[in-house]
Amino acid sequence: MYSETSNFVNATDNAFFFIIGVSVIFLLGITGTLIYFIFRYNKKRNPVATQIHGSNTLEVVWTVIPTILVIIMFFYGWAGYSPMRKAPEDAMKITATARMWSWSFEYPNGIKTDTLYVPLDKPVALALNSLDVIHSFYIPAFRVKEDMVPGRGNKTWFIAQKEGAYELFCTEYCGLSHSYMFTEVKVLPQKDFDAWYAMMADTTRKPAESGNPVAEGKRLVEKNGCVACHSADGTKIVGPTFKGVYGHKVLVETDGKEREVLADDEYIKRSIYDPNADVVKGFAKGVMVSYKSQLSDEDVSKIIEYLKTLQ
Ligand code: CUA
Repeated sequence: MYSETSNFVNATDNAFFFIIGVSVIFLLGITGTLIYFIFRYNKKRNPVATQIHGSNTLEVVWTVIPTILVIIMFFYGWAGYSPMRKAPEDAMKITATARMWSWSFEYPNGIKTDTLYVPLDKPVALALNSLDVIHSFYIPAFRVKEDMVPGRGNKTWFIAQKEGAYELFCTEYCGLSHSYMFTEVKVLPQKDFDAWYAMMADTTRKPAESGNPVAEGKRLVEKNGCVACHSADGTKIVGPTFKGVYGHKVLVETDGKEREVLADDEYIKRSIYDPNADVVKGFAKGVMVSYKSQLSDEDVSKIIEYLKTLQ
């Protein structure tokens, strides 16, 4: 039925192609005239310059035509932009939270993911929050783009009209790892979405039954976007790797002084709650913010269980 990936594709593309079309016509027209005049009015062909003192016709033509053109541009722009401002009442409400440098999406039933899942052909309204600096929520395939300003509470919405996975990334330079701040939006048919939603709700509601602290620690680390900066396989990204940390000696800088500490439970906890207290040598201070409001003591102990397995 639809060929566009979202309900905003047509209007956005129309405005874009109209503006590009007009710009190309003017570029060719002006360049062509310029080249013609170089030959037609050079010194050999036209030794005596003609002085022109104003032309009402010309003035009117080059005022009226561009005015009409920009009014048409405004019309296309407004027609496309205005529906983006108001989400339908029945839209599914999801909260998107950005922080340096990861995404988190919270659904009406309380589950959280680091990839955005949405049902096909259903309006989805997003509340956009930032926990630190200005980020920007961007899904190019859907023509959806909105800044996430701390304390501002911006919103956006869309209807995904084609099944598939599409890029979702931050498009406002937000510091060192801005370029790592990407994820995906997965569009599932309603039936598959409902199944996924119920499955996720189950695992969230019964943490004791899923029971395995290592698996849960791993899930927490993925869900909170830690893996954007910390690898599990020894690769150096923005922060130190998780591999081989637990139970080993680490060289850190504390209050400007180097010291060696043992990476035990207490050290891991401090690194999560107060990441700039001990900064591992070779890494920058101030890159990570505290996760105290996101991760409980229990969450941290699960993460520690997971880290113990990465030797
Ligand atoms: Cu967040 Cu760039």
